[in-house]
Amino acid sequence: MEVIYINLENILQDLKKVVIKIGEYQLKNLNTDLSIKRKSSAIDLVSEIDKNSEKMIIEWIDNNFPKHNIIAEEQGSTDNDSKYTWVIDPLDGTTNYIHGFPIFSISIALMKEEKPILGIIYAPYLDELYYAIENKGAYLNEKRVYISNENSLIDSLLVTGFPYDFKNNKYNNIDVFNSLILKSQGIRRIGSAAYDLAAVACGSFDGFWEFKLNPWDIKAGVIIVKEAGGTVIETDFKGNGLIIAGSDEITKKIMKEINKVYG
Ligand code: IPD
Ligand code: CA
Ligand code: CA
Repeated sequence: MEVIYINLENILQDLKKVVIKIGEYQLKNLNTDLSIKRKSSAIDLVSEIDKNSEKMIIEWIDNNFPKHNIIAEEQGSTDNDSKYTWVIDPLDGTTNYIHGFPIFSISIALMKEEKPILGIIYAPYLDELYYAIENKGAYLNEKRVYISNENSLIDSLLVTGFPYDFKNNKYNNIDVFNSLILKSQGIRRIGSAAYDLAAVACGSFDGFWEFKLNPWDIKAGVIIVKEAGGTVIETDFKGNGLIIAGSDEITKKIMKEINKVYG
C-alpha cells in the first residue's frame, strides 16, 4: 500500500521556485535560433526549450516523489500505480514562443486519483504566477483572485482556441466562434490554454471554451478556476473533448450555443 505524506503548502513553495527558474530559462532563449520539430501537423510544433523545461520539472518530481505517476506532454506517461499523478505542460503556447510572441506559460497540476488538488501556472514574460490548492482559494502573485461575476453573454469577453487538426476536423470551433462573436463583447485567441484558464480565474475573461485539449493543457487551470469560484464543464462532446470555464451562468450559455451549432 502506498503511504505518502503530502504537504501541499511545502510542495507549492518549492514548485514556485522551479517554475520561476524555468521561466528565466525560457525568457533567456526567446527569440533565439531554436531547433524546432513538427509533432503531428504543420502547426503542432515542439522546440528544445519545451523538452529541456520538462526535464527540469521531471527532475524535481523524481527527486521528491519518485513513486508518483507522471503525465508529461513531451516524454509521455510514467505509471507507478500511485494515487498521485503529476500533469505537466512545460511550455503551453509553443507556437507563440517560436514566433517570439511572448505569451506562453508553464502548467503543472498534481492530481489525487482523478481530481486536481494543486495547480500552478506561470507566465514568465508577464511575471504572473497563478496557483491554487484544493479548498484554499486561487492566487495571482500572492493575491487572492476571483472569477468575474458577469452573467450576461453580450457583456462578456470570451477566450478560445482551435484544435491543431482544425483544417480536417468538422468540430473545428469555427462556427461556434462565428456565432459567439456576435453574441458577446468579443473573443480573444491567445494561444495558451493554460493562460486562458488563469485569466478566467482572475476575472480578465468571463468565459473560455475549447475542443480537443489534453490534460496537461488544462488540469492546473481547472483547479485554479474552481478555487476562484468558477465552474468548469469537462465533457466528451462527440469524442472532441470539450472544456468550458467561467461563471455557472456563462458556462451554461456557452454550452447552449455549442449545442445549437453542433447539435
Ligand atoms: C496549445 C495551446 C493552445 C491550444 C492548443 C494547445 P501547446 O498547447 O494551449 O492555446 O489552442 O490546442 O495544444 O502545444 O502550445 O503546448
Ligand atoms: Ca499545451
Ligand atoms: Ca506544450
